[in-house]
Amino acid sequence: MTEVLPAPHCPPTPPDAAPPCLIVIFGARGDLTHRLLIPALLDLAREGLLAKDTRILGVDHHEEDDESFRNAVLAACHDNKSNGARDFLRSRLFYQRGDFTAAATFDAIARHLPEPCPDARAESRPDAETEKKSCGNAIFYLATAPRFFETIIDLLSQAGLLREEDGHFRRIIIEKPFGRDLASAQALNKAILRVAAETQIYRIDHYLGKETVQNIMVLRFANFMFEPIWDRSHIDAVEITAAETVGVEGRGRFYDTAGALRDMVPNHMFQLLSMIGMEPPNSFDAEAIRTEKAKVLEAVRPYSPQEAMANAVRGQYGAGTIAGAAQRAYRADASVDAASETETFVALTLWIDNWRWQGVPFLIRTGKALAARRTEAVIHFRKAPGVLFRHIPACDLSPGRLILKIQPDEGLSLRFVIKHPGRQIVLTDAEMQFFYANAFKSRPSTGYETLLYDCLTGDPTLFQRADHVEAGWAVVQPFLDGFADPALGRLSPLEIYAAGSQGPSGAAALAARCGHLWHELA
Ligand code: BG6
Repeated sequence: MTEVLPAPHCPPTPPDAAPPCLIVIFGARGDLTHRLLIPALLDLAREGLLAKDTRILGVDHHEEDDESFRNAVLAACHDNKSNGARDFLRSRLFYQRGDFTAAATFDAIARHLPEPCPDARAESRPDAETEKKSCGNAIFYLATAPRFFETIIDLLSQAGLLREEDGHFRRIIIEKPFGRDLASAQALNKAILRVAAETQIYRIDHYLGKETVQNIMVLRFANFMFEPIWDRSHIDAVEITAAETVGVEGRGRFYDTAGALRDMVPNHMFQLLSMIGMEPPNSFDAEAIRTEKAKVLEAVRPYSPQEAMANAVRGQYGAGTIAGAAQRAYRADASVDAASETETFVALTLWIDNWRWQGVPFLIRTGKALAARRTEAVIHFRKAPGVLFRHIPACDLSPGRLILKIQPDEGLSLRFVIKHPGRQIVLTDAEMQFFYANAFKSRPSTGYETLLYDCLTGDPTLFQRADHVEAGWAVVQPFLDGFADPALGRLSPLEIYAAGSQGPSGAAALAARCGHLWHELA
């Protein structure tokens, strides 16, 4: 257990409320809005981080009015302590019925943009002019199926809604999946950048909103003890896992056309890989950080589809038991094709060909219906030379290991070798742990609070730039090509694993090929 010193080095100054803004959510009656966006907005309201002139306009094709929309989206947020925040949000929620592909919907949205703000009408107020300008601010949140992205952005542009004039901003937040492969991601970027500037685009990856993912940079660059040994001379392998116990649970309509590789690797897994692998940026400036992250992905060794198959394992869960409860096979889910060949697990070995990482395997695995829910990165250090201890019977020094625990038990753990108490020199392992939940009272957030606030305040650091997205797809493309090719695909066949297990046995063999054992999921 570790103790956190009560006073932070630099006491945080409370953040300012975001500027007034109309937040337009396309897909307002969808799952994402209910489960994540409205709760995140409620959290921001509770923290006093939304301006009083904030308004949220839900757009969807359902027959609905403002009142029924408010009732529907707030119904799921039960929290007695936030009644004030609920009232704040309720009075700022509005609904616009509309077809995402019809110009009339966008004309209707335009009518919701106030000019000037109610408070700014009192021209005698010293800040009235600034408020009046920022009142035209708008964020367009695309929480829709990806097939609508291009059309919505085109129609926003045609309606003049993307023009940034009179000091106000117009920003677009795009949810994943951003493309299905390299070509579609490039085409989507091209289409968007024809009508909007890169500075207006906020490509979201909710992993970047996670406290522990942001902590990777602080851990590496604010401590002298890690960065000097963060390289090929001291690190033997890096293992990145995102394991879930949940199965597809009715999401098959989307998931069965995507699979674990598309769903998790070019986005969430590569955010972790970039944070772990990046060079120190020159500053905390968004572009400096995003440039270093993109460079890591650009340095990943390009595989041919054949090489990719030799470095990939894919699996699909069969029936099994997870935490004592029976889990049906993936193919038995009503939302999935009964003969589906879609992978629910994938493991890859990647190499980053640069001075820092040459020769260090990056082992990546992600899957559903596994033995434990755990997202983590394990840094395996090299073994110390055993010369001093070679006389000790069966002495095999364990290598040191640092685990960056992303979720659910956010924190760190560091394993090292110590002397077992007694008259003889006997070696044993010790593990030091730090958990955010023990050290701080803050509750883990969904990540969307941070990301929405950052977009409102114009900080793109935690969003993906076009080149990062494309570099991620470029790494994944040979795996997609190999899986799609019947002859090559046979080199990495789909293996059925029992739900609640460690995943396909091939994953253990993949790690063993570079001398490794995955950290057990338990
Ligand atoms: C989503 C994927 O982006 O991330 C889901 O589409 C996955 O399939 C989810 O379950 C995992 O997110 P988290 O925050 O629970 O790790």
